[in-house]
Amino acid sequence: MQTAANTAATNIAPPEKLTIHPAWGRLTHWINAVAMLMMVGSGWEIYNASPLFPFVFPKTITLGGWLAGALLWHFAAMWVLAVNGLVYVALGLATGRFRRKLLPIRAGDVIADARSALRGQLSHDDLSVYNAVQKLLYFGVILAGFVIILSGLAIWKSVQLQELTALFGGYEAARYVHFFAMAMIVGFLVIHIVMALVVPKSLRAILTGR
Ligand code: HEM
Ligand code: HEM
Repeated sequence: MQTAANTAATNIAPPEKLTIHPAWGRLTHWINAVAMLMMVGSGWEIYNASPLFPFVFPKTITLGGWLAGALLWHFAAMWVLAVNGLVYVALGLATGRFRRKLLPIRAGDVIADARSALRGQLSHDDLSVYNAVQKLLYFGVILAGFVIILSGLAIWKSVQLQELTALFGGYEAARYVHFFAMAMIVGFLVIHIVMALVVPKSLRAILTGR
C-alpha cells in the first residue's frame, strides 16, 4: 500500500527526474547506431580495396559488395551520421546534459571505478548517473566521432580542404587517423554492447526513456 508521503513524493517528482534518456537522446542514439554500422561496414570494404595493414576484413561483414558500392554507402550514410551527430552534440551542450552527465571526469575516479568494475562491485542501481568509466568512454567516443568526421573530410576533399588534410599530416596520415578512429569506435562498441547485455535495464532505458 502506498503511504500518503510517498504518493506525494511521486507526484512532486519532476518528469525530467524520471526520464533517464530524453526522446531526442534516444532518437539520435539509434540513428547514430544504424549510421555507424553502415559506415564501419562500408569502410571495411573500402579498406579491403587497398589495405593499410597486412590483413583484410572478411567479405561477410563488409557492406557494399565492392569498392564503388562501398563508397556509395559511405558517402550516403555520412550525411545521416554527421547531421544527426551535430544535432546530438548541439542539444547535449544547449540542454546542459553533457555538463551534468559527462563532467567532471577525474583520473582518480576513473581508476577507482575501473577497479571496482573489474571486481564486479560497480553498482548500476541509478542509471541516471554515469560512473567515471562511463563518462570517460562516452566523452571519448564523442571525441572519436569528431576525429573520424574531420579525417574523413580530409581524405574525401583532400584538394579543396588541403589545410585540414595538412593538419592531419597529409593524405596518407589522415587515412591512418581515420582508420585508428574507426578502431577506437569499434572497440568502444564491443564494450558498450557487452555492458548493455550485462545491464539489460540500461537497454530498456535507451529504448523507452526509463
Ligand atoms: C563524415 C564522415 C566520413 C567521411 C567524409 C569519410 C570519408 C572516407 C573516405 C573518402 C574514405 C576513402 C579513403 C581512401 O580512398 O582510401 C574512407 C575510408 C574509410 N572510412 Fe570513412 N568517412 C567518414 C566516416 C567514417 C566512419 C564514421 C567510419 C567508421 C566508424 C569510417 C570508416 C572508414 C574506413 C574503415 C575506411 C577505410 C580506411 C582506408 O583504408 O583508408 N568512416 N572514409
Ligand atoms: C547496437 C548498438 C548499440 C547498443 C545496443 C547501445 C546501447 C546503449 C545503451 C543501453 C545505452 C544506455 C547506457 C547507459 O545507461 O550507460 C547507450 C547510451 C549511449 N550510447 Fe549506445 N548503443 C549502441 C550503439 C552505439 C554507438 C554506435 C555509439 C557511438 C559510436 C553509442 C554511443 C552511446 C552514448 C554516447 C551513450 C550515452 C548517451 C547519453 O547519455 O547522452 N552507442 N547505448
